[in-house]
Amino acid sequence: MNTKNEVKLQQEYIEKVKKINKNKNLKYNILTFGCQLNENDSEKLCGMLEEMGYTKTEKPEEADIALFNTCCVRENAEDKLFGKLGELKRLKEQKGLIIAIGGCMMQEKHITNKIKESYPFVDIIFGTHTLHKFPEDLHKTIEEKRKIEDILDIDGKVYEGLPIRRSSKTKASVTIMNGCNNFCSYCIVPYVRGRERSRQPRDIINEVRELASNGYKEIILLGQNVNSYLRVEKEKGIEFEEYEGVNSFATLLRAINKIDSIERIRFVSPHPKDFTDDVIEQIADCEKVCKLIHLPLQSGNTKVLKEMNRKYTKEQYLNLVEKMKNKIPNLTLSTDIIVGFPGETDEEFEDTLDVVRKVKFEQVYMFIYSRRVGTPGDKMENQVPEEIKHKRFDKLKALVESQIEENNQKYVGTIQKVLVEGESKNNKNMLSGRTDSNKVVIFEGSKDLIDKTIDLKIVSEHMWYLKGELEEIK
Ligand code: 5AD
Ligand code: SF4
Repeated sequence: MNTKNEVKLQQEYIEKVKKINKNKNLKYNILTFGCQLNENDSEKLCGMLEEMGYTKTEKPEEADIALFNTCCVRENAEDKLFGKLGELKRLKEQKGLIIAIGGCMMQEKHITNKIKESYPFVDIIFGTHTLHKFPEDLHKTIEEKRKIEDILDIDGKVYEGLPIRRSSKTKASVTIMNGCNNFCSYCIVPYVRGRERSRQPRDIINEVRELASNGYKEIILLGQNVNSYLRVEKEKGIEFEEYEGVNSFATLLRAINKIDSIERIRFVSPHPKDFTDDVIEQIADCEKVCKLIHLPLQSGNTKVLKEMNRKYTKEQYLNLVEKMKNKIPNLTLSTDIIVGFPGETDEEFEDTLDVVRKVKFEQVYMFIYSRRVGTPGDKMENQVPEEIKHKRFDKLKALVESQIEENNQKYVGTIQKVLVEGESKNNKNMLSGRTDSNKVVIFEGSKDLIDKTIDLKIVSEHMWYLKGELEEIK
C-alpha cells in the first residue's frame, strides 16, 4: 500500500474509534521523553487521539489512555519510563486504563522484551515506523481486547496528512526530514529512526503557509541532520519535485523566509560537516532566520571526534565558527557536548574546554556519555569510569555557567526584540517570550501582547532567564 492510502486507512480507523467513543467523554494523558522531533511526533499522536474523541488531561489518574512517547538517546529515559509504568499498574487494575508505549525505545528488542516480561499489563507497543498506525492499533485493542505489538525494522517512509494538535499557538515545529545516515559511534538514533529521507518541498512549504495563515509566528525546522535535507535523494537518484525553487536546505530557508507573517525561523540540528557556504549565505541574507545557530560540537578533541565518527577536526570546527561569525553579523551559537566518551583522556577533555572558552556559546547542552546497546561506542573497551565522567561534567558545567553569566550581563541595559509566547510558567502575573538568540525574557504586561514581537528593555539577568520591562511610549 502506498503511504497516501495508508493514511487514508488510518482516517477510517479514526472514524471507527470515534464512533465507539461517542458520548463517553474519554481522556488521554501523554508523556513525551527526548528531543523536539519526539515532541512533534507527540503532537501528531495528540491530533489522532483528539479526532478519535479523547480530550487531554495532565493527570494520569483521570485518563482512559496513558501514552508514552519514548526516547533512547541516553539511559536515564529508560529508568524514568520503568518508574512511571510501575506507578500506572494500580490504575490499570482499578479502572482498566489502556497503556500504550511508542517511540524510539520500542525499536530496541531488549527493551520490548523487558516490557513484555516485567510489565505485561501494557496494551500497545509501537515503534517509530508505525506511529501513523496508532488509530488501527488502538481500535484492535478496544475491539479485540488483545495486546498489540506493532514494530517494524525498516528504513522508514514519510507519511503526510496526519492530524496534528500543536502545543503552542505562537511557534510550530515542522519536521523536514526523518532518520540519520551518520552513525556517530555513540548514537542509537540511526538504528531506531532508520535512514535519512526528506519530505517533499511542496508539503513543507504548504504546511508552513497554513501555519502562517493560522497565526503562527515562529517556525522550527526539525531533523536529525537538517542541513543534509534532500542530499540523500540527490545522491541516490530518489525522485523529488522542486517547488518554489526548493532543492536544498539553503533554498528551503530562502523559500520559508518569503512566507508572509512568519517572523522567525529556527532549525535543529545541523551537522558541522554539512554546513555548506550556501546555507551560511542564506542565514546571513534571510532576515527571519534567527542568528542563533545550534552547532553540535560533541568533543573538542580531534582524536575523540575521529573515534566518534564525526568527520571533522577541532580546527575545522573552529574555522567553520570563524567563517560563520565573519559572514553572519551578530551570530551566536549553541551546542551539544558529550563528556567521557570511551578513551577520552583528561588532556583530550581539555580540548573541549578550550573550544568552549574560544567560541563562547550562548547555550551548551551537556551530556555524560551513556552506553547504548548496539552502537560501536558500547563495544569499545576503554570506557571512562563513572566518577571521572562526573568530574569532567562538573568542570564543564562550571565553565559554561560562568560564561553564561558573563554573557547575560551583556544583555542588561539593551533593547531586545522579544516574541511573546504566553504567561510565564512560574508566575502567572508575568509574561514570557524569547529573544532572537532564544533567551527567555520575563516581564509584566497585558495579555494582548501574547503572539506579538515587542521591544523590551532588559533590566536584570538570572542565569536561565532575563527580566525585561516595556519601554515607556515617549
Ligand atoms: N550519550 C550521551 N549523549 C548522547 N547524545 C547522543 N547520544 C548520546 C550518548 N550515547 C547527545 C548528543 C546529541 C544529543 C541530542 O544527545 O550530544 O547531539
Ligand atoms: Fe546521532 Fe550523529 Fe545522527 Fe545526530 S548526526 S542523530 S548524533 S548519529
